[in-house]
Amino acid sequence: AAEDGLKGWLRYAPLSCSDQCSSNLPSSIVTLNTTKTSPVYVAGTELQHGLQGIYEKKLQITHKKCNAADSVIVGTVDQYRHACGAVSGVPDLEEDGFWLSTKGKTVQILGQNERGALYGTFEYLSMLAQRNFSKVAYASNPSAPIRWVNQWDNMDGSIERGYGGPSIFFKNGQIVEDLTRVKEYARLLASIKINAIVINNVNANATILSPSNLDGVARVADVFRPYGIQVGLSLNFASPQTFGGLDTFDPLDASVIQWWSNITAQVYERVPDMAGYLVKADSEGQPGPQTYNRTLSDAANLFAKEVQPYGGIVMYRAFVYDHHLNESNWRDDRANAAVDFFKHLDGEFEDNVVIQIKYGPIDFQVREPVSPLFANLFNTSMAIELQVTQEYLGQQSHLVYVAPPWKEILDFDLRVDSQPSLVSDIVAGKRFKRKLGGSAAVVNVGTNSTWLGSHMSMSNLYAYGRLAWNPSDDPQEILQDWTRLTFGLDRKVLDTITHISMDSWPAYEQYSGNLGIQTLTDIIYTHYGPSPASQDNNGWGQWTRADRDSIGMDRTVSNGTRFSGQYPQEIAAMYEDIESTPEELLLWFHHVNYTYRLSSGKTVIQHFYDSHYTGAEKTQGFLEQWESLQGKVDTERYDHVRRFLDYQTGHSIIWRDAINNFYYNLSAIPDDAKRVDHH
Ligand code: GCU
Repeated sequence: AAEDGLKGWLRYAPLSCSDQCSSNLPSSIVTLNTTKTSPVYVAGTELQHGLQGIYEKKLQITHKKCNAADSVIVGTVDQYRHACGAVSGVPDLEEDGFWLSTKGKTVQILGQNERGALYGTFEYLSMLAQRNFSKVAYASNPSAPIRWVNQWDNMDGSIERGYGGPSIFFKNGQIVEDLTRVKEYARLLASIKINAIVINNVNANATILSPSNLDGVARVADVFRPYGIQVGLSLNFASPQTFGGLDTFDPLDASVIQWWSNITAQVYERVPDMAGYLVKADSEGQPGPQTYNRTLSDAANLFAKEVQPYGGIVMYRAFVYDHHLNESNWRDDRANAAVDFFKHLDGEFEDNVVIQIKYGPIDFQVREPVSPLFANLFNTSMAIELQVTQEYLGQQSHLVYVAPPWKEILDFDLRVDSQPSLVSDIVAGKRFKRKLGGSAAVVNVGTNSTWLGSHMSMSNLYAYGRLAWNPSDDPQEILQDWTRLTFGLDRKVLDTITHISMDSWPAYEQYSGNLGIQTLTDIIYTHYGPSPASQDNNGWGQWTRADRDSIGMDRTVSNGTRFSGQYPQEIAAMYEDIESTPEELLLWFHHVNYTYRLSSGKTVIQHFYDSHYTGAEKTQGFLEQWESLQGKVDTERYDHVRRFLDYQTGHSIIWRDAINNFYYNLSAIPDDAKRVDHH
């Protein structure tokens, strides 16, 4: 049963095969590369494995025949041309793209490169595993070249904000010996078209750069390579000093540059296709260029120049802010930091630098407006950073399907120069004509047999890959593919999981922080459980400014922190005016009395009270709906999910009461329905 978790959505669970189905299955596999470590070869074995699992059909793999009837052929367009002659009807493909045709007598899966061929193979298998035999012929191309995941794994094997057990990569300061789980992870990631992974925490430990650890990184890269996945590394900015023994880490110092050159040469000697470096600097106590009064572009360019000859890139994180802010200053606002730090550097970055920007200006809250930095860099490549690991979203103990909020962010139109400027087009490089761009998600799988700590959370990883490839995909359709692949084709199972998942973000928002007030969790350390009091009077700047009469951050230009002015004119005007600010972000942008009336006619405080009850009731409903699936889902996974939902039901009540009591005690405004103050 634990195996079901490990396989995730790649279970290839047996399906009965009617006549119609067997006549639609291939009877042999042709792969156009015989090298065992090539993605095309891997694609062939994956097909064999999948068809065996789903339809109990054991197929031979050959490497020669072209266009044999009833076969499936996998390779790159070039390999096909070489082995079989001209390809007809296949449009030009972009890097990593593929062509999939089930229309002719041969199923064709042809990639622009080998990675694309592997992606097409997984897509074909996903159809078969959902008993989808429709005749299709289409090209699929990525929306963006960067489709990365980040692991926040520490060298000691712990994982920062990881809720699925210890690291699959590290233990006791070293790369682990047994990389079986790494290979399984590679397979899952390749199936959702992820092309690179940074394996160590952004709060990086310099010892990753020791020769023996770099040897370990090379072993890891060898495991990922057949799946078309490149490895990247997080760097600690002070490494030349703390690890290299120099007396400085000034990015413009010749000895420091020399030191990084040397390290980079050592890295690429072992991993010639290393994807690049990820850098968190001058953030939350991490060292950075500010120590030497150097700019963030000085820092990014230092690395960019080093990896450039090897084809590497630098993901430089925009998560730079001062965490010793002073709340008594009405104009202080952490949300302003990214634009303040980066806007004036636009155009200063090397071409192979990508600024990696969290979707919102603060930190993965249950709801945030889009980071305005996306609308302030025109000559700099960007990527959006998302979080699969549910740091502020219940840490996998709560069911929160995150694709719907991601989709809202990706679809948001920033109206730069009053022109359509969707976030998805900006990060894809399309809006400002950048070659590089895309997305990175913090995933943090661990050795837990469910990977993330809960079976249901895997829908978020699956959805991340789907949206990174194609941001116009629909979150509900993505979820339904995931559900069928993970739990089978039963209609009731599908409907139930769809319903509770699609309702899960709204419910969580209702009991954890609504009207844009952010997740009212403990923000000092755990980021778990209700703690509205911790939101204020701290240096971190995730404030609510709640007092006896009023609540919310005034981020207007006219009277507040001026954050709204960081957006292009149309958007800025919308947020500046309380009347045109969407109510779900009311308290993000405005400071109002608890008695302020919403469009529903309710006051803010009454809306709080009511929403917390609604959210907790919804959650109770999730448990009941899940229980109607007993017997339709295998016992291990049924029990596991039931336990989690049972816990969440209780915890949502704790959330409800903690938050409601807190604001009642603060404001002394009674609840119209007499629940909160009725002790
Ligand atoms: C959050 C998170 C930290 C993490 C940081 C980051 O603040 O709580 O654990 O290091 O984000 O993204 O760098």
